[in-house]
Amino acid sequence: MQLNGLYYHLRTFGCQMNQHDSERIAGMLEALGALPVSDAEQADIVVFMTCCVREAADTRLYGQVASLKNLPAPNGRRLIAIGGCIGQRDGELLVERLPHVDVVFGTHNLASLPGLLIAALNDAEAQVEVLSDSQAATLPKATSLPIRRQQAWQAWVPIMTGCDNFCSYCIVPYVRGRETSRPFEEVLQEVEKLLAEGVVEITLLGQNVNSYGRDLYGQPRFAEMLRAVGNSGIQRLRFTTSHPKDLSEQTIAAFAETAAVMPQLHLPFQSGSDRILQAMNRNYTADHYRSLIKSVRQATAAAFSTDIIVGFPGETEADFQATCDLVSEIGFNQAFTFIYSRREGTPAAELVDDTPAEVIQERFQRLVQIVQQSAWQQSQLELDKTTSVLFEGTSKRDQSMLSGRNPQNTTVHVPLPVGRSLDDYIGRIEPVHIDLARTWYLRGELV
Ligand code: 5AD
Ligand code: SF4
Repeated sequence: MQLNGLYYHLRTFGCQMNQHDSERIAGMLEALGALPVSDAEQADIVVFMTCCVREAADTRLYGQVASLKNLPAPNGRRLIAIGGCIGQRDGELLVERLPHVDVVFGTHNLASLPGLLIAALNDAEAQVEVLSDSQAATLPKATSLPIRRQQAWQAWVPIMTGCDNFCSYCIVPYVRGRETSRPFEEVLQEVEKLLAEGVVEITLLGQNVNSYGRDLYGQPRFAEMLRAVGNSGIQRLRFTTSHPKDLSEQTIAAFAETAAVMPQLHLPFQSGSDRILQAMNRNYTADHYRSLIKSVRQATAAAFSTDIIVGFPGETEADFQATCDLVSEIGFNQAFTFIYSRREGTPAAELVDDTPAEVIQERFQRLVQIVQQSAWQQSQLELDKTTSVLFEGTSKRDQSMLSGRNPQNTTVHVPLPVGRSLDDYIGRIEPVHIDLARTWYLRGELV
């Protein structure tokens, strides 16, 4: 147990893939005897799992790592490790800019982290190991590493990693590599194991889940995967992220016909303007997006969420208006809105970008209003209905309220019944009658 008695603190930025990778890191470190702490100050080892999809996450990481420099360590020395997408992108550069960093690893070599930490404990030199996907081929795959899941009843299951889409603004294909699917049977075996452990909700993960299987089997097998996992006995199944150009009729049918697949679809459209979609290399039109939503709605009642970028280079007021119109027309339960962030090395970074920042900021504010309006309208449709809620904990603001999610993935708060404790509900699915509908949450009573 080479890390026996050492305390580690893990900080995760970015997407669910990073959250899941962090569960593997926690699993590996704990298998070697390290113990988690919630405070970096008490930690002998601080690991950052990083994101570089937008500049804000980059800046935050550099700030947070810098601020650890003069923080006293509990046992004289604190190791700082940086992994994930910034590790992959910046490698040695991180150590040049932040000389107190001890370990840098990338997205393809999670398995190397314990060895790098142990080497750093015995050596003042920084240990940097960043590999390409092919160089990492001989290392154990992340999916075979020990794991400590954040919640006993919920699991993320990666079915593929990487992305081949090369949207012109996006850094992901450069830091996560090519699309690599896990064998179908291996995913099903993991699902069986999770069921035996009492997991009630699984989220299938991938940068582009709709093309799952294409690299391995010559054609996508995502629809088949949804049916197989959905019929395995799991109570709730979700998946993310889908790409409109790859969402097939077969997948829509599997989504609609498999009872355990929750009626919630995250389908980023990025922009409502065909001109901008083309410049983004998204390979679909706004009308194609509309037709997909229509097909899903004809097949089943579902809640939609999306991602939108404001201020892509060359976006005009008319382009932006097309985005606003699409939001109002579709009626999203949730939309994640981002201001375009120039990423060095991507094709869009070469485009003329002369829209003034104030104009973009003002558009962003307008879009947020429209998104809120849309979410509020969707929320009202739930009033007076009885829904099933999977309880996850108590409300952050009020410990006397249980909170969980309904099938549409909306947060639902319910008063904790007198004489009962959170443990009676956590990880369980119960019927709730909704009596209050706000923009981002619902409130109700246990039935
Ligand atoms: N700038 C702003 N938003 C971006 N996204 C990806 N790359 C960028 C970028 N350079 C957004 C997209 C994607 C989400 C995960 O992040 O909307 O769907
Ligand atoms: Fe990035 Fe586009 Fe791939 Fe999503 S589909 S990860 S936005 S390149």
